[in-house]
Amino acid sequence: RPVNLDPMGRPDAATRLDLTHRPRRNRKADWTRRLTRENTLTVADLIWPIFVMDGSDARTPVSSMPGVERLSVDQAVREAERAAGLGIPALALFPYTDPELRTVDGREALNRDNLVCRTLRAIKDAVPEIGLITDVALDPYTSHGHDGLLSPDGRILNDETIAVLIEQSLVQAEAGADVIAPSDMMDGRVGAIRRALDAEGHLDAQILAYSAKYASAFYGPFRDAVGSTGCLKGDKRTYQMDPANGTEALREAALDIEEGADMLMVKPGLPYLDIVWRLKDTFGLPTFAYQVSGEYAMIEAAARNGWLDGERAMMESLMAFKRAGADGVLTYFAPRVAEKLAREA
Ligand code: PBG
Repeated sequence: RPVNLDPMGRPDAATRLDLTHRPRRNRKADWTRRLTRENTLTVADLIWPIFVMDGSDARTPVSSMPGVERLSVDQAVREAERAAGLGIPALALFPYTDPELRTVDGREALNRDNLVCRTLRAIKDAVPEIGLITDVALDPYTSHGHDGLLSPDGRILNDETIAVLIEQSLVQAEAGADVIAPSDMMDGRVGAIRRALDAEGHLDAQILAYSAKYASAFYGPFRDAVGSTGCLKGDKRTYQMDPANGTEALREAALDIEEGADMLMVKPGLPYLDIVWRLKDTFGLPTFAYQVSGEYAMIEAAARNGWLDGERAMMESLMAFKRAGADGVLTYFAPRVAEKLAREA
C-alpha cells in the first residue's frame, strides 16, 4: 500500500488534489466505458476487397499480404456467401489479369466475359443480396501498369482514357455491378460515366468516387496481388494526388459531387484521416476510407513478428476511421472483424 493512501485506500489529505473535473471517472469500469463510448464499429461498416483470378477451386496466397488469397471465381462465390452470412454489406472486386491479356490499350477491360464480369454474374446469381463494387481503371489490364492510356511520348491521356472508362463502366453495370468506383483520378470521369450509365438505363447504378486518391507507397502489396508490380513504368504522380495536399482534396470532391458522385472515398486510409474528416464535414455525403494493402501488411507483419497485438491493432485502426467520420471502411480485415463482432455479440 503506497504510503500516501489511508487505510481505506483513499489519498490522504495532503495528497488529495482539489479537482472539479476527473475525466477518469467515466472510464472506471467496463459498463461506464461502454455507456459513454462515442463511436461504434459494426459489421455494416465493412466493405471487403477481394482478389479474383482464373481457374477453378483455387486459391493462391498473396505473399506481401499474409492471410489474403487470390480466389478463383467459384471460391469467390463461396466467400461471398460467407460474407453475406456474416452481414458484410458489400464486396469490392479486383482482378488478377493473366499477363498475356494485358495490352498497351487495356482492351481486356471491355471484354464482357472478363474475370470481373464473370465474377459479378456468378456472385449475383448465387448471393443476390450482397452489394458488388467494381473498380473502374485500366491498370489491371495494361501492359505498362498505368490506369490510363499512354501517348506515344509516355504521357497519360485524360480524355481518351475516359472514353474507355465509360465503356468499362457499362460493361460492369451490365454484368451486375451495383456500385461503379472510378479509381483512376482522370478529370471529368464521374460526369462522363454518370451520363453514360443513365443513357443506357442504369439509373440505379451508384458511383463511388475515389475523390481523394493519393500517389502512395502504401499500394505496394496490392500491385503484387493483382500482378502489376513488375510492369509499372514510372509512377502515377501525374494523376494521383500529392500526399502533401489537403485542400486540393476538397476541390476534387466538389467536382465529383457536381458531376454526380453518390459517395466519396479517401485512399489510403489511416495516414489520411484528416482528409476523411474534412470531406465528411464539408459535404456530408456517404464517405468511405480505404485501408489499403500496405496498411494491412504493416499491421499483419508486426503482429506475425509478435511486435504488436494484431487483433487489437486491427480493431483500433478501424475504430479510428469511424471516429474520423467515415461511414464505412474498405478493409482486407473485413471477414475477420465480422467474425469477431459476431462472436462478441
Ligand atoms: C488501381 C487501384 C490501386 C488500388 C486500388 N485500385 C492501386 C494503384 O492505384 O496503383 C490499391 C488498393 C490497395 O493498395 O489496397 N486503380
